[in-house]
Amino acid sequence: MSTAQTPPSSAFEAAAHETLVSTLRNTHAQEKQAIAVLESQLKLLTDYPDLHARVTAHIVETREQARRLEAGLEACGDSASMVKDTLSSVMGLGQSSVQGLSDDAVLKAVAGDMMTEHLEIATYRTLLTLADMAGKPELRPRLEETLHEEEEMAAWFDQNLDAITRRFVEIKTSELQAHAARRSEIATAEEESTAEPKADMAPDTPPAPPVPKEPRRPDAPAAGAARRDG
Ligand SMILES: [Fe+2]
Repeated sequence: MSTAQTPPSSAFEAAAHETLVSTLRNTHAQEKQAIAVLESQLKLLTDYPDLHARVTAHIVETREQARRLEAGLEACGDSASMVKDTLSSVMGLGQSSVQGLSDDAVLKAVAGDMMTEHLEIATYRTLLTLADMAGKPELRPRLEETLHEEEEMAAWFDQNLDAITRRFVEIKTSELQAHAARRSEIATAEEESTAEPKADMAPDTPPAPPVPKEPRRPDAPAAGAARRDG
């Protein structure tokens, strides 16, 4: 619903207002896209509890950021209900909704998220300047609140990137070790199976023990003794 608007006092202010509205609209679409991207990442992050928790919290923040933008559009006389969430091609550069389960999907997701946060910081700083130039200072508190959240998110990534990367390598190490252990087990099983006798061969039997010679009785004549004595 449009609200009563003070007409722009100059052509410059009118141009700034038009730019402000279009940028608010694009940013709203970007935030909606960011929510979809972050939600799609959560399933990748189950082995990264801190990252999972921080991304989950930022999804909640981003939903509120989208609502602030809708309120900003209404304050500019633009009907928020008419906002069309056309996907931003800029956003698509760094992120698709699903990165896919590539080997380093988590690292790619984090790098993409960091890029997105810095894009958002630049966007909200631009919106603040546009709000001033368009004679809409009342938009500042909402935009500043969101800018602060984006800066906090970017700073968190910055502070945790090394730990996330280390965690990634630790998980990969465990996976490689488990893989090597499985291969070793398979190789051992194969060796054992090839060492077994074939079905058409007699099974190995232990050699029969030597038959002991019967000891000569003391009263028995030695061999040949009878002939010598007779
Ligand atoms: Fe963000």
